[in-house]
Amino acid sequence: MTPLNIVILAAGKGTRMYSDKPKVLHSLAGKPLVQHVLDRARALQPHQICVIYGHGGDAVPSAMQQYGAIFALQEPQLGTGHAVQQALPHLSDESRTLVLYGDVPLTQPDTLQHMQQAGDGLVLLTVNLDNPSGYGRIVRNGQGRVECIVEQKDANAEQLKIKEVNTGIVLAPTAKLREWLGKLQNNNAQGEYYLTDIVAMAVQQGVSVHTVQPAQVWEVEGINSKSQLATLERTWQQVQAIQLLNQGVTLADPARIDIRGKLVCGRDVEIDVGCIFEGEVTLGERVRVGAYSILRNASIASGTEIAPYTHIDSSEVGANCHIGPYARLRPGTRLAEDVHVGNFVEIKNSDIAAKSKANHLSYIGDSTVGSRVNIGAGTITCNYDGANKFRTIIGDDAFIGSDTQLVAPVTIGKGATIGAGSTITKDTPDGELTLSRSKQMTISGWKRPVKEKK
Ligand code: UD1
Ligand code: CA
Repeated sequence: MTPLNIVILAAGKGTRMYSDKPKVLHSLAGKPLVQHVLDRARALQPHQICVIYGHGGDAVPSAMQQYGAIFALQEPQLGTGHAVQQALPHLSDESRTLVLYGDVPLTQPDTLQHMQQAGDGLVLLTVNLDNPSGYGRIVRNGQGRVECIVEQKDANAEQLKIKEVNTGIVLAPTAKLREWLGKLQNNNAQGEYYLTDIVAMAVQQGVSVHTVQPAQVWEVEGINSKSQLATLERTWQQVQAIQLLNQGVTLADPARIDIRGKLVCGRDVEIDVGCIFEGEVTLGERVRVGAYSILRNASIASGTEIAPYTHIDSSEVGANCHIGPYARLRPGTRLAEDVHVGNFVEIKNSDIAAKSKANHLSYIGDSTVGSRVNIGAGTITCNYDGANKFRTIIGDDAFIGSDTQLVAPVTIGKGATIGAGSTITKDTPDGELTLSRSKQMTISGWKRPVKEKK
């Protein structure tokens, strides 16, 4: 197959966003608009990706530098044709060039594939709109063949009635594209170099012009305002929610879930309202996620219940665990199966083996906890001396009494018991009771101080 180059137009100012940030860096589903386009572009395995940027200085190239694209500056911005011209030095003639828009984030892979399969020549992505106002119109002849694209501002009354519009996304043989762009004029209503003028040139030269339509209109919707951004966000969330429902996932309310990344669910997963999933999240079979929980880059094994208001970030949770409500698992937490983590428990960079429990009000950081350990309410691992972090190791079957401080580095022996209220600074032996608190005593006859009467 002919190699593919992709040009992403992202130089526009985005005046109607009323923001200092370039338009294409505003996020949809947790990811900058232009990154959606770059991700889809990369999935097509092109030979070259060239992003045309303009407004916002280096903001776009520096935000997207890890994407392996070339960035070309368009300054000043003299139209879409002029924008594509800036990419020409980076495109080889033995290729086809696909032009995408940095502010049209949701074009689906199938649609781009249909364009590639539509034939040689020029391929336009078009869509029929009830209200075509503002868009370039696709003008066809009596036989239904495309003749040209006419912009709204240049269209006559008859052309304005056409409902088939240009999405802006086109695929063209690069050598031809170079030739056509070289001939562009700006004698039109906006005084711009229109990319759309290449259509009439192709027709004139007898180069075939094909059109492809996306399966859904939202695939070609562009963002010009915060209102359009919010609307497309809701559309995309609804699309993802329906995909989950169709796979058998139970959603308490498909309008109240946000997926900002990729959510993979096993059978019989149930998700309550208000949950947010970020990055890559995997939920095993029968996992239940309670209301208003936030999961980011996490995997939750089958049968685990996550109670409401739980936050899980960059962690692995084993099967049949019970987490929350109000639990927080921070990066590097790995829980084996049947672990219980209760309310107001924070765990970071720690491994907790099977059947262990920390049910109330604890901080467990940089720890390795064995199996069947019971961590009492209020237990804190003191892992940080202000400069360095140290590990706490707790052996299998240990019982840590409530309100204990474990000052790391420290090891609690297997089957050891720590008396409540202890501050443990030295390793404790297996199987023994260790405590460090002063003995309780009673001072009989002691009187509370009282205020002296004046
Ligand atoms: C363009 C099309 C129109 C189509 C519409 C779809 C042209 C002449 N018209 O119109 O047929 O229906 O898109 O939305 O192509 N850009 C640059 N540099 C520039 C100008 C634009 O990078 O000099 C980028 C913008 O950032 C944007 C895209 O190109 O991502 C489209 O530009 P815009 O000004 O919105 O084009 P329209 O006038 O809407
Ligand atoms: Ca536009």
